[in-house]
Amino acid sequence: MNPYFLNVLITGASSGLGAALARECAGPGVTLHLSGRDIERLGVVADECRARGAGVRPVVIDVCDAPTMAEWIAGCGRLDLVICNAGVGAGTGDAWESADDARRVFDTNITGVLNTALPAIEVMATQEPARDGFRGHVAVVASLAAFIAGPSAPAYAASKAAVQRWAEARDGTERKRGIRMHSICPGFVRTPMTAKNPFPMPLLMDADEAARRTMAGLQVGKLRIVYPRRIYWLARAVGALPPGLLNRLLGAAPPKPKA
Ligand SMILES: NC(=O)c1ccc[n+]([C@@H]2O[C@H](COP(=O)([O-])OP(=O)(O)OC[C@H]3O[C@@H](n4cnc5c(N)ncnc54)[C@H](OP(=O)(O)O)[C@@H]3O)[C@@H](O)[C@H]2O)c1
Repeated sequence: MNPYFLNVLITGASSGLGAALARECAGPGVTLHLSGRDIERLGVVADECRARGAGVRPVVIDVCDAPTMAEWIAGCGRLDLVICNAGVGAGTGDAWESADDARRVFDTNITGVLNTALPAIEVMATQEPARDGFRGHVAVVASLAAFIAGPSAPAYAASKAAVQRWAEARDGTERKRGIRMHSICPGFVRTPMTAKNPFPMPLLMDADEAARRTMAGLQVGKLRIVYPRRIYWLARAVGALPPGLLNRLLGAAPPKPKA
């Protein structure tokens, strides 16, 4: 359990990393606001968190539904930590990225993050600071894919780069009014999203371990939380290659499957 964040909101808590983050945050005295689209899986996660002593308020909301997201977040009361985690992936498979996939990935991974983070910032701006001196924290789940424009998942890599840069840049000004922003950049995590990847995933990590590392980074106030660090530095190095060379090198690897 985390002793720092008592009122936590997590999107995409019905599966994978979001579910693990919810369990990691759960404990006596903690209130969790959890969202997802699958009511049954969300209910299972809510019960697991209640068993750990947390108060849980699960809701079924699509992060792309801006008015409903704003209404939900404004009605939650105090929020110490909001994790914009809901996201989707889509690859090219043996062909190319479809128009529908490109739009769905951008809508969910960028607009969905804004639909969560912007109302959360509005709520936090009116709150008194907590023990750590901040009114609240907004964490955006990006990816190490943010650092490589991988040709087999163009929209996914671009969407993650957008939210990673947005969160980190916005922290520069939000700090001045007592709000922290964080980017979370995991490598490969064992979740339903990666289950169908046909290629080797170096240093693949369990979701519970990813959640522990995420919360450890948030608790010490890291702006950019990255893991595993070896893959991070590899991604930074490969991502710095000239784009034509990068496409030729990565084009020889097995592609990410279509959604
Ligand atoms: N797995 C990895 O290796 C990895 C690495 C880096 C970053 N990430 C990021 O981590 C986050 C979680 O991914 P995951 O691996 O845990 O995948 P996952 O198991 O597929 O979970 C995705 C979650 O997002 C929710 N979601 C998707 N679209 C939504 C929408 N329109 N509205 C509301 N909720 C929506 C899903 O809800 P429902 O199932 O209820 O629809 C689910 O709870 C994503 O942002 C992903 O990009 C994952």
